[in-house]
Amino acid sequence: MELKNKKLLVIGGAGFIGSHTVDELLKEPVSEIRIFDNFTRGRKNNLKSAIQDSRVKVFAHGGELLHPELVKSALEGIDGVFHFAALWLLHCWDYPRSAFEVNCGGLFNVLEAIVDNPDVQRLVWSSSASVYGDAVTEPMQESHPLNNTNFYGATKVAGEQFCRAYYYRYLNTPQEFDFVGLRYMNVYGARQDYKGAYIAVIMKILDRLEKGLPPVIYGDGSQAYDFVNVVDCARANIAAMKANVADEFYNVGTGIKTTIKELVDLILEITESDLTPIFEPSGQTFVKNRIGCPVKAEREIGYKHSVQLRDGLKDLIKWRNNHKSEVIHRRNAAE
Ligand SMILES: NC(=O)c1ccc[n+]([C@@H]2O[C@H](COP(=O)([O-])OP(=O)(O)OC[C@H]3O[C@@H](n4cnc5c(N)ncnc54)[C@H](O)[C@@H]3O)[C@@H](O)[C@H]2O)c1
Repeated sequence: MELKNKKLLVIGGAGFIGSHTVDELLKEPVSEIRIFDNFTRGRKNNLKSAIQDSRVKVFAHGGELLHPELVKSALEGIDGVFHFAALWLLHCWDYPRSAFEVNCGGLFNVLEAIVDNPDVQRLVWSSSASVYGDAVTEPMQESHPLNNTNFYGATKVAGEQFCRAYYYRYLNTPQEFDFVGLRYMNVYGARQDYKGAYIAVIMKILDRLEKGLPPVIYGDGSQAYDFVNVVDCARANIAAMKANVADEFYNVGTGIKTTIKELVDLILEITESDLTPIFEPSGQTFVKNRIGCPVKAEREIGYKHSVQLRDGLKDLIKWRNNHKSEVIHRRNAAE
């Protein structure tokens, strides 16, 4: 979809990936960026610079995805929707009912609202690499089996099917819309949560270093992932909104394999720490090996990662040092 003079709705726009997508969207000639978020996890500070631009509007009536009428009215006059709002992996583990309501019911409300607003041409929805489970083949192409075994991943597998079902249900009707689902790999970068129960591995390592404690590696450190910078994810989202493809899912990653041991060593090097990692028996690990093949996304939507892990980690550490006092992790209201 051509973005010139278009109005875009960003659901979950105050969150980690959503707020970076808003920042990137401001480089495009869009006429309005409407933010819909209940701020349970997203932060007003994430939008601090974006709201200086008059094209950015926070939806006036609040942004609760679980209220279908509100979602419907948020979509009025909108050309394209980015839908990021969801509960995260560990939150879904602890609170599956809330996960079902937000990740599945929330998406359902968005799909219904799209059908009720026939001007909406396109949906870019956040799936996740979690749909794959552990890699059977490497790097994982989008045709890799969906071997997920946890509830978060289950909501994403279901969500992919919901999108497809609505797409085909309304194909060649006045309510027709296009959609693309993005399977982000392990996203890291500025604005990532770093306090509270639901934080990701890089922030856990940095927390330990900050306290003068050696980083902990669970197991032998050979678990390997594809770490992709959030700015690259934001660019992928916009590429997906612009692209002329529908009913497709794309990996958003780098295709580069980094083990946890390599990640820890790199962070120690960047922070000039002389601490030595300690090894502890592996605890709860959902996936041990997950690298996404980036070829399809590059070929079909023109997305290719640009941020190298070393540079992205440096940026993240700088941001963390500058924003510590501002960042307040708030656990979801469902608790
Ligand atoms: N961060 C990652 O590593 C990663 C990896 C794969 C997939 N994803 C997916 O990408 C999307 C964005 O992830 P993120 O890391 O930016 O998450 P995030 O938690 O930072 O952002 C989600 C936003 O949605 C909002 N939200 C939650 N429940 C809501 C509700 N009921 N109504 C309205 N707003 C609500 C939150 O306040 C938050 O601002 C999610 O769908 C996530 O599952 C993220």
